Amino acid sequence: MIEEIKSHIAEVENFEADNLDAVEEFRIKYLGKKGILNNFFASFKKIPKEDKKEFGQMINKLKTKAQDKIDSLKTAIEEQKEEEGIYGDLSRPGQKIGIGARHPITIVKNQIIEVFSNIGFNVSEGPEIEDDWHNFSALNLPEYHPARDMQDTFFVQTDPEKYLLRTHTSGVQIRYMQENKPPIRTISPGRVYRNEDISARSHCLFHQVEGLYVDKNVSFADLKQTLLYFTEQLFGKSEIRLRPSYFPFTEPSAEVDIYWGLETEADHRITKGTGWLEIMGCGMVDPNVLENCDIDPEEFSGFAFGMGIERIAMLLYQIDDIRMFYENDLRFLKQFKSVI
Ligand code: PHE
Repeated sequence: MIEEIKSHIAEVENFEADNLDAVEEFRIKYLGKKGILNNFFASFKKIPKEDKKEFGQMINKLKTKAQDKIDSLKTAIEEQKEEEGIYGDLSRPGQKIGIGARHPITIVKNQIIEVFSNIGFNVSEGPEIEDDWHNFSALNLPEYHPARDMQDTFFVQTDPEKYLLRTHTSGVQIRYMQENKPPIRTISPGRVYRNEDISARSHCLFHQVEGLYVDKNVSFADLKQTLLYFTEQLFGKSEIRLRPSYFPFTEPSAEVDIYWGLETEADHRITKGTGWLEIMGCGMVDPNVLENCDIDPEEFSGFAFGMGIERIAMLLYQIDDIRMFYENDLRFLKQFKSVI
């Protein structure tokens, strides 16, 4: 009989269960009214006197082991349940990680940077909160100059000094000219702000890339050739025209149009039936601007240009509402894939 109890002890020690029903079944089997232990207790009186002590000790051992086993299994199962309550089913499959894509503005910005870096332009950046001097005065736009109205401005502070959300990235070029001597070839991409009504065509914030080239003997022909190269690279279009225009910081100034063509209905719509599309402003850097940055206009000349990235992206991707860029609608964003 002792052997029998020993084998029960081994069975109890090896018992495992992962749910409370199985533990309960086990409890009834050993500790229930008609369970194994009670059977052993009942046979106690039939045991010869000299064996009673050992027999008693063994069944008590079996009882304690069974009870301990039940207690520890119950706690383990309860704990696991609690954990599942916090983390859910830990064995469930993981969540798929979606692969992101670059924003179309970033894609086009990178394309523009690549085109210009191939011909020796570097990239310069500056602060979005700019002082009045860098954004306006240094660019030949003194206070009370009417041309300041061309760019409705968000002022951050007006007293004692004026700080504003930059209306263009031309201020970065001023900073660059203050810190670097010619030859200068730099493009300045970045976010700019204007106090304009939001519509399908314009927004109070958008992105620009402006370019600056200052060296000895830089001419208008250099400007035109550079822009031609750019439009060929980015749009695959090789016909441009320069229309006289006005910017306070360039003289002479021009507006750049590319010949887009009139092949499709969309071409007619976006070019208003003319085939031509305006894509940027440009001009020869005004001598006053060079002087403001301690560059001698007798020795050096330069050209500058500036374009809105949204406008270019809208043309390249045939997007007709600028607000789409800022709504973060995944159905819109998911359509853009890029390698740069
Ligand atoms: N800074 C001008 C703008 O934001 C663009 C420009 C840059 C025009 C350089 C001419 C030369 O409108």
